[in-house]
Amino acid sequence: MEKLAAIVLAAGQGKRMKSSLPKVLHPLAGRPLLHYPVRAAFEAGASEVVVVVGKESEAVRASLAEAFGDKVKTAVQAEPRGTGDAVRCGLPALSEGVEATFILYGDTPLVEGEDLRALVTAIGSHPLSLLSCELEDPKGYGRVVRDGEGRVLRIREDRDCSPEEKRIREVNAGMYLARTAFLRRALAELSPDNAQGELYLTDIVELSSKLSEGSVAVLADPARLSGVNDRAQLAEAENAMHRRILERLGKKGVTIHGDPRVDDTVEVAEDVTLGPGVCLRGRTVVERSAIVDVGCVVTDSLIGEEAELRPYSVVTSSKVGARAKIGPFAHLRPDSEIGEEAHIGNFVETKKTVVHARAKANHLAYLGDGVVGEGSNVGAGTIFCNYDGFRKHRTTLGKNVFIGSDSQIVAPVTIGDNAYVATGTTVTQDVPADALAIGRCRQENKPEYAKRLRAKLAKKEK
Ligand code: UD1
Ligand code: CA
Repeated sequence: MEKLAAIVLAAGQGKRMKSSLPKVLHPLAGRPLLHYPVRAAFEAGASEVVVVVGKESEAVRASLAEAFGDKVKTAVQAEPRGTGDAVRCGLPALSEGVEATFILYGDTPLVEGEDLRALVTAIGSHPLSLLSCELEDPKGYGRVVRDGEGRVLRIREDRDCSPEEKRIREVNAGMYLARTAFLRRALAELSPDNAQGELYLTDIVELSSKLSEGSVAVLADPARLSGVNDRAQLAEAENAMHRRILERLGKKGVTIHGDPRVDDTVEVAEDVTLGPGVCLRGRTVVERSAIVDVGCVVTDSLIGEEAELRPYSVVTSSKVGARAKIGPFAHLRPDSEIGEEAHIGNFVETKKTVVHARAKANHLAYLGDGVVGEGSNVGAGTIFCNYDGFRKHRTTLGKNVFIGSDSQIVAPVTIGDNAYVATGTTVTQDVPADALAIGRCRQENKPEYAKRLRAKLAKKEK
């Protein structure tokens, strides 16, 4: 095949989704449904892809432009008059000299490039090849009707089937490769003579069977071809996609315990370990030999080599350095940067804060809008008081600073290298390097006082 293009249909209303979001933009394993068939078309060798969208489709266009730039063109089908009409609307956007065109539906996210390559191999001198599959329950799909010799005669839509045709288990997957010249002629001949009064693309199969060469249907794996029409099918398709991703990672050398969910947008390196219930989402990258333990949720973040996320930690739009240890139950909110070998322990929350190498905040702390210098130690219960009700202020700790437990650092404040803040201090002024800051009442012990007090109180009770 010289030059291949693809037309992907996405102008239907998706009524069965019962959603205010266009069907093809529903996310599946981290990408909108529609992005998968578009990607498969490119993988299969299409040099251009035209997506047919409905009239109110700004969001669909924007999503395509963001993912594929100007490699994908769009064409508008103003009214959803059927899949045949939609392809008619897409044709004028194809450039000259396209020898054959894939036609795909925007709601079949599990298809891959290699499934479509099978259409290129099969088309030979035929005007049309299509993918079909055998289903236990073919309800809802168009049936592939063959003659006594097995030649494909036509596709009959579920609603138009005779009782006998309803029993056919071979269904139309809705993925085709058509010679462009044939496609133009066939589309011109479609008529809305069916149960829905629409122009069915599937009628081009019958038109091709009237030519001497006819069309070929290639049987493919149903798991790759299933369409998403409602949210139950969406959930099923997403599970299938997540299983596929785990299988790929397992082969690549990632240890998988239980059922982590890794989105299609995520990169996981060799020798990483993922625990049960882990969710990796968005533009997350997990580097070599890192461990992401039970129940961690990581979104748009970088997890460095050999870093360890202990159970139930949540990391969002942040960076974790090599060999750092996070959690259990830590919360790194956006723009946290945790340095190499640093420790962020249980019930510690960070936000817009840089924690430099080997620094530690091991228990119950809030570090917001701050910098913690290399090797510093932030004691249990420390709070960076960053907000005065109007503005956020910064806290800066130098290197090897020691903050005693239960201290409040009222920002803006800078604490110099090697300084020491005594436990329970409220720091409101800068602390010079090497100084001790202490701000608490002196302790006084009153000998025997407790004993006398008890005796007095006991008397009153009687
Ligand atoms: C279609 C096929 C059916 C096949 C099934 C496979 C037709 C007539 N039927 O049925 O044989 O078994 O897919 O999944 O083609 N669309 C438009 N404009 C329209 C109508 C639809 O762009 O006017 C788009 C939709 O957005 C969708 C795709 O075409 O992405 C398929 O439409 P849908 O209504 O889901 O077709 P099915 O009933 O699933
Ligand atoms: Ca469908």
